[in-house]
Amino acid sequence: MSEIQLTVNGQPTTVTTPPMKRLLDVLREDLRLTGAKEGCGEGECGSCSVIMNGELVNSCLVPILQAEGAEITTIEGLAELSGSAEQSAAPPDQRAEGALYSSPGQRPGSATNSDDSGLKARATSLPRYLHPIQQCFLEHGGAQCGICTPGMILATHHLLAKHPHPTLPEIQEGLAGNLCRCTGYMRIFEAVQQAANSATGAKTGVMR
Ligand code: FES
Ligand code: FES
Repeated sequence: MSEIQLTVNGQPTTVTTPPMKRLLDVLREDLRLTGAKEGCGEGECGSCSVIMNGELVNSCLVPILQAEGAEITTIEGLAELSGSAEQSAAPPDQRAEGALYSSPGQRPGSATNSDDSGLKARATSLPRYLHPIQQCFLEHGGAQCGICTPGMILATHHLLAKHPHPTLPEIQEGLAGNLCRCTGYMRIFEAVQQAANSATGAKTGVMR
């Protein structure tokens, strides 16, 4: 067993785990962040995508040892970012309901994986807001069974961070590592185009 320190969705986190355990499994089993999905388990489908140190990676291919000291963003973290932004613009009653943290410096779930109270706090503090990209996928029918969706949305986020106004070929190339068996892709591409056309995240973030 190894003690691995990393930052997940902005929270310093320590996990005690076999060093070759996959990042995907650590996220889902140890940290109970089940947004990343296992599809192929071989680096071919992108359903397990997360952002690691600013790059989109297939978490099924990353031994947790390689994530020592890394900054990881999962789909849960993406929604949190939107929720925080939305709160500042929301009416007071909605702010109270959507509050993710009781104070700016207090972030639930920062305990190690041996502290179950921290994990429960993380589970009960899941964001109540959709990220603008999630909202665009919802509006365009870009998600059907949902298995590919967290990876698609993170891939979109990664793409738009680099190319805020991508052409259709750039969208196709940016999402080439993420496979979808349901939508036929056009609805996903439309959702990405709408997300790119949205002025800011806060304008299109909504409460679930
Ligand atoms: S499950 Fe990781 S790429 Fe398919
Ligand atoms: S695989 Fe089902 S929505 Fe993409």
